Amino acid sequence: MKIAVSFLKSDNYKKCIQKINNTSADYLHVDMCDGKYVESKNFTIKPLLDTLSVSTKKLDIHLMVDNPIKYVDDLATLDVDTMTFHLKTCKDPMEVIDYIHSIGIKVGMAINPDEEVKELLPYIPYLDEVLVMSVVPGKGGQSFMSEVLPKIDELIELKVKNHFIIAIDGGINGETVNYLKDYPVDMVISGSYVTESSNYEGSIQNLHI
Ligand code: DX5
Ligand code: ZN
Repeated sequence: MKIAVSFLKSDNYKKCIQKINNTSADYLHVDMCDGKYVESKNFTIKPLLDTLSVSTKKLDIHLMVDNPIKYVDDLATLDVDTMTFHLKTCKDPMEVIDYIHSIGIKVGMAINPDEEVKELLPYIPYLDEVLVMSVVPGKGGQSFMSEVLPKIDELIELKVKNHFIIAIDGGINGETVNYLKDYPVDMVISGSYVTESSNYEGSIQNLHI
């Protein structure tokens, strides 16, 4: 299971990213909140690019923004593995998927706690990742919503004929990660559990189940 660490809930982004650089995390998870799709707003594109310039990890970018396609070219100048967007942020999700793929970057789509797997069905054959949100998107430090777990079973069935990975994002800590023994995923995203701890690497190790 891969581990990505989110720095959304930290006071000093660059310092936090530098500490993540020195861990075994597979990816830096980058949460972009625009104040439109989600209430909170953290970055406009220039400060985000500047902040990410200190990262030595490959980036797993989570766009919680309206009209995500407009950020893709700027973000693609970085060392990006995957860009993930939300269904209801654009008129034509297929256009976003095709565009991100056309520049050689993997594509994910996220499912909010109040959305169903079936809403993503038309896009599943084209996705590299499905991100199951286990909190309402927009803020770090929320509690894990175990009621989203059955979606993982639905996705595991869909994986048989498709090639995407399953990731889960929000409220993952050394305890809640144990739910994933029954609902295996390919990647977990953890934020505050790691970045508010005194030992980032120790916390990351606790996420390996
Ligand atoms: C929520 C974000 C998550 C969040 C994870 O809107 O997408 O990536 O930062 O942080 P924790 O682990 O604190 O919930
Ligand atoms: Zn996220």
